[in-house]
Amino acid sequence: MRVLVTGGLGFIGSHTVVELQNAGYEVVIIDDLSNASEAVLDGIEAITGKKPDFEKLDLRDKNAVSAFFKKYADIVGAIHFAASKAVGESVHKPLLYYENNLSSLVYLLQELTAKDSANFIFSSSCTVYGQADELPITENAPVKPAESPYGNTKQIGEEIIRDTTKVYDKFKAIALRYFNPIGAHPSVEIGELPLGVPQNLVPFITQTAAGLREQLSVFGNDYPTADGTCVRDYIHVVDLAKAHVMALTRLVEDKNKTNYEVFNLGTGTGSSVLEVIETFEQVSGQKLNYKIVDRREGDVVAAYADTDKANSELGWKSQLSLADALRSAWDWEKKVRGIE
Ligand code: UD1
Repeated sequence: MRVLVTGGLGFIGSHTVVELQNAGYEVVIIDDLSNASEAVLDGIEAITGKKPDFEKLDLRDKNAVSAFFKKYADIVGAIHFAASKAVGESVHKPLLYYENNLSSLVYLLQELTAKDSANFIFSSSCTVYGQADELPITENAPVKPAESPYGNTKQIGEEIIRDTTKVYDKFKAIALRYFNPIGAHPSVEIGELPLGVPQNLVPFITQTAAGLREQLSVFGNDYPTADGTCVRDYIHVVDLAKAHVMALTRLVEDKNKTNYEVFNLGTGTGSSVLEVIETFEQVSGQKLNYKIVDRREGDVVAAYADTDKANSELGWKSQLSLADALRSAWDWEKKVRGIE
């Protein structure tokens, strides 16, 4: 069975392609290479023994998307990762984010709903919950007004998909709300490759340890948490990738309960910024240079997943620990920088 993976050369996409191929799916990737490199195909091949098909294509090009679906008419579904994801940039370039993240989604859905049947997995984010009133966060927690255009594209994207499943019986979809994906494949053939200065915590930590950044700034230690720093649910990207395969297979095998479903993907455990730093220091055997600075605007105090629904419905549970994830992230950083 052939599956389309958009953004399949990116961080989560590439790890998911590996797990799809390991599970026996044929994969064709669409990527515009705006934030990924074609060399990732070699990494995927080194792990799985198979190079997936690849089409360099901008999903905002409606005609190109149509031509793609004519060429690959046997696709049974799509996992849609391709999107812009820098929160800060989205505040300054809202229209770019709305155009890139939403027009591409609409064009894909137009093609998929024109087929006899199709399955769709959407990359959503726990950002849709904002600061939830109750922890851990269940899928029933209310969606809060988005803090950024990026977050809004995830909320609107979910609504577009939900509305679409209401009128096309043969179109089924699952939105996966990720908590904080980190780490790299244990083979260190693929991993995260942020462009420019990383905005996310773990790549900033590994780049600081590798000597690319002088010092990590910890954004605030006066939050109402045990050590005063923000708490997040860091999930190993390999665990996350496996959840996508299970979600797709659920739809392919008609095991879904409704034609639009939502699942949280997290470990269920919250870790503070200082705990992440401490665990990184243990696994890397290095002291990390960091200082406490002011809070970052828009940060929520604490977010971690209630994983019951994913456990019982998808049959998925994260297996790898924060230490595993940080060790793999560090091994990957060392490989990329040529550090022994
Ligand atoms: C961020 C986005 C979220 C998005 C996700 C995608 C914000 C407010 N949220 O999540 O919408 O879905 O990325 O990747 O941007 N931290 C530091 N120093 C740093 C970087 C981060 O102390 O240099 C702290 C943050 O304050 C936060 C934690 O580390 O408490 C995690 O930050 P980050 O990796 O950026 O993820 P989120 O903010 O949770």
